[in-house]
Amino acid sequence: MKSDIVTNRITDILETKYPFVQAPMNWLTDANLVAAVANAGGLGIFGPNPGLTNMIHGIENHIEQMRQQIRQARKLTNKEFGINILVEDEPAIHMNGMLKVAFEEDIHYFAVVGEPNQNVYHKIKEHGGIIIARPLTPTVQNAQLAEKFGADIFVATGYDEGGILPQNGQGTFTVVPMIVDAVNIPVLAAGGINDRRAVKAAMNLGAAGVYVGSRLLVANEAPTASSTKEKIINGHFSDMGLVSHDQRSLLNKPMQTLATNYQLYNDGIKNDEIISKAGGLLPGMRLGKIDTGIISTNTGIDLIKEQTSVQQIIKELMED
Ligand SMILES: Cc1cc2nc3c(=O)[nH]c(=O)nc-3n(C[C@H](O)[C@H](O)[C@H](O)COP(=O)(O)O)c2cc1C
Repeated sequence: MKSDIVTNRITDILETKYPFVQAPMNWLTDANLVAAVANAGGLGIFGPNPGLTNMIHGIENHIEQMRQQIRQARKLTNKEFGINILVEDEPAIHMNGMLKVAFEEDIHYFAVVGEPNQNVYHKIKEHGGIIIARPLTPTVQNAQLAEKFGADIFVATGYDEGGILPQNGQGTFTVVPMIVDAVNIPVLAAGGINDRRAVKAAMNLGAAGVYVGSRLLVANEAPTASSTKEKIINGHFSDMGLVSHDQRSLLNKPMQTLATNYQLYNDGIKNDEIISKAGGLLPGMRLGKIDTGIISTNTGIDLIKEQTSVQQIIKELMED
């Protein structure tokens, strides 16, 4: 008889039905989405600014917001979920605040974004946490270091991804097997995974699971503005461009200007500042001001064709 549930190294570690992890996304991964992913058999992970529609200031307010969102998600699911930790150098006020609230609220899964950091990993391990290590630019060296420092899972992210791009330009198709060959811990593939074909390809490349962001932006439960969901669903890769050294966007008028300036002057840092001052992903993606802000997705935007529930998306990707 065919078993309903197939386990592998990722599902064993995460105790999920599927080796599917929802990638944290600034402003766009709130309690509703995280809980929906958990209920659908994956691991949901809180990114920064969950449940917010405006910028708030002060670390205490950010911590309190995260606490409320964690408690909200607990009301919506009895499954586990995780939190995004951005590695900072000491005094690391923001990072330590987020770790503290996560420990207090009994979170066990940590997507640790940044270079492997023994001190941070140690704090998480002391609390019995599971570390999903995700350097922005994965390399053989940082994968092996993450493993040495005690990471449980490593995310191999390729240049196809949405969000902040890896800085060496290596695509998902080559970075995944390179990392798989370099470490013994299980590897999640990230970057451009929008349908079942990509999941199968990732598994064929040796990944033990997938780490998916862009595809979930248009899920019913995602807090992405509905006009932005529509824009993504109708969007094409040919409508996108690099607006800085590490960000890609659909090209509305201001983003077209940034893309042109970037091509002409290669001044990505200045563009990053302009985008950040304008609120980053908040106006274009969360508030639906699609003609003003950055709208970031992966290179496979043409494959993101419909808005459905999280459950349907995960089933579509993972059923095989
Ligand atoms: C709109 C958007 C925002 C993101 N924000 C974050 C973030 O705040 N922190 C983070 O670690 N990664 C962030 N990412 C990257 C994702 O966690 C993940 O690496 C990526 O989405 C995977 O590739 P995919 O988009 O092709 O599925 C973001 C990605 C997107 C598309």
